[in-house]
Amino acid sequence: MSIGSVSEVLLDTQTTFHPPQLAVIVPSYNERDNVELLYEKVALALGDTPWEMIVVDDDSPDGTAEVVNELSRVYANIRCLRRFGRRGLASACVEGMAVTSAPFVAVIDADLQHDEAILPQMLEAAVAGADLVVGSRFAEGGSAGSGLSQTRLSGSNLANRLAGMIAGQAVSDPMSGFFLIRREAALAAAPRLASDGFKILIDLIVTSARMGRPLRIAEVPYTFRPRHAGESKMNPLIVIQYLGLWVSKMTGGALPPSFLLFGLVGGTGVVVHLAALAFFTSVLSQGFVVSQIAATLIAMAWNFVLNNNLTYADRKLRGAKLITGFLSFCAICALGGIANISVANAIYQWDHQTFVAGLAGAIMSSVFNYAVTRAFTWK
Ligand code: GDD
Ligand code: MN
Repeated sequence: MSIGSVSEVLLDTQTTFHPPQLAVIVPSYNERDNVELLYEKVALALGDTPWEMIVVDDDSPDGTAEVVNELSRVYANIRCLRRFGRRGLASACVEGMAVTSAPFVAVIDADLQHDEAILPQMLEAAVAGADLVVGSRFAEGGSAGSGLSQTRLSGSNLANRLAGMIAGQAVSDPMSGFFLIRREAALAAAPRLASDGFKILIDLIVTSARMGRPLRIAEVPYTFRPRHAGESKMNPLIVIQYLGLWVSKMTGGALPPSFLLFGLVGGTGVVVHLAALAFFTSVLSQGFVVSQIAATLIAMAWNFVLNNNLTYADRKLRGAKLITGFLSFCAICALGGIANISVANAIYQWDHQTFVAGLAGAIMSSVFNYAVTRAFTWK
């Protein structure tokens, strides 16, 4: 049976069904008291345009998903995609885009900070030919309003300048969480996007350009509003994740975004190792070998916990998986240690430079540990 050759029984639904022209994707985490109002405001703004809303909720403890499911029983064009055991604004947006048939998709925050009234204008610009339409606070006529604190505003300025270095074209608000894009353009870039962090827009712009499909960008100004109910999920980790993405793009994609975080965690692990070694040898008067073994175990546990909560916060291991994960992490790091010593030794034999050999060994084991734990421990 070909698509569209429906049976008589289904014809009735066919006559009343209008396929959505626009899907509004709403990433949500603890937004129970915002989603209904958001739906109503978007419905008012879009009027006759066939549209749907897809709320992508990471199993919020406040029960956002249940509230959306209740709304789905009242309105036909809203549904909830609920994800379990995962977090991440960027991956939530991409997965929302993947479950709609609408040719255009918009991303809007659940907390009413973005002005839904400009959605029709954004859609118009896309229909007229733009691949991507950015809701901008910094374009002529827009404003960051009272939606950003002074600290956030200076952080945002710095982030914008960094983004300008990788964007490759002028965008006044590259950090915007409010944009509309052709679904097919977004999904083409999707497999290469970083899954963590908040910065999906700049990632889409840079990734598409690097794939040889630069996006034609339009902007529509708006005034950023204060959050309605609930709290912001912005935190220092989000900032580090953005820096990781930036370093990755600056190196032409040679370093994956999470490598920066993995490396930083490794750096703190060295400090912990040396502190533990000093404690066991001096305070507990243990022999060197015993102290070194204890310090290694403590540093490995430290690295594992930090990577699980920071580097891989979006796929954090819990419960029984925490134990098997830790064991695989230790086994992989042990292999990394062997790789370290072999490489360092080979280089030392060749060119008796202790520092160079040691550094090469350390780089070898960091890359090995990163690549292998990513494939096995946090797959
Ligand atoms: N599914 C899912 N998973 N959604 C999330 C997650 C997550 O882990 N973290 C945050 N969200 C949702 C929130 O529920 C909200 O709807 C939206 O993503 C934005 O989160 P906020 O916590 O409100 O972020 P913000 O207001 O601090 O940041 C906004 O402004 C920045 C620019 O100033 C966002 O729009 C950012 O994308 C933007 O860069
Ligand atoms: Mn917000």
